[in-house]
Amino acid sequence: MLADKHHRTEFASKTESLNEWLRKYSGQNRRGNTAATWVIADHEYRVVAYATLSMTSVDKSDCPPALAKGTPRQVPALLVGRLATDERFEGMGLATQLVLHILTTALELNATAACRAVIVNALNVDAYAWWQRFGFEPLDPADDASLDLYLLTADIAKTLERMVPS
Ligand SMILES: CC(C)(COP(=O)(O)OP(=O)(O)OC[C@H]1O[C@@H](n2cnc3c(N)ncnc32)[C@H](O)[C@@H]1OP(=O)(O)O)[C@@H](O)C(=O)NCCC(=O)NCCS
Repeated sequence: MLADKHHRTEFASKTESLNEWLRKYSGQNRRGNTAATWVIADHEYRVVAYATLSMTSVDKSDCPPALAKGTPRQVPALLVGRLATDERFEGMGLATQLVLHILTTALELNATAACRAVIVNALNVDAYAWWQRFGFEPLDPADDASLDLYLLTADIAKTLERMVPS
């Protein structure tokens, strides 16, 4: 979890808006209870990768059948708002570790408060393909322009089995 000891100013992913968000808005989002930032930091507490989580709900009418089945009008879910790795640390598996942490968090939340799915708004087509590696599926398969994806909490165990070496 992001704490005062972590240095955010040098964080440099290839997406400037994500760097700026970490620098300027992560603290106020935490204080306002609108987004929690999880980080991986180096030995000097410099953030090298981060992800943000918030509670959300999706309107049942916007959900594909697998997500909507048997749910109330608002489907409870966990939202991954942002995910980024400093360019100097890309390809080391850091973002993958954050995603595995997020999926474990969704399982824990589901046990205590019910969380039917994890939702992601992918940044672009590349990021969309990246999330599909974890089993995320299109929220609206009919809309080619939509970059929203979901993974049922009930399917997380399968992803963890596949992605975590035993
Ligand atoms: C996407 C991003 C978070 C990945 O971070 P990372 O720490 O380098 O990721 P990891 O090291 O955990 O994973 C790298 C793996 O993803 C694969 N990968 C990278 N881009 C991919 C893509 N577009 N589609 C499919 N796989 C991809 C790599 O080939 C590598 O695979 P391997 O483990 O089999 O070798 C990082 O590139 C980034 O910050 N990009 C800019 C912001 C962004 O797009 N964020 C996504 C927000 S929705």
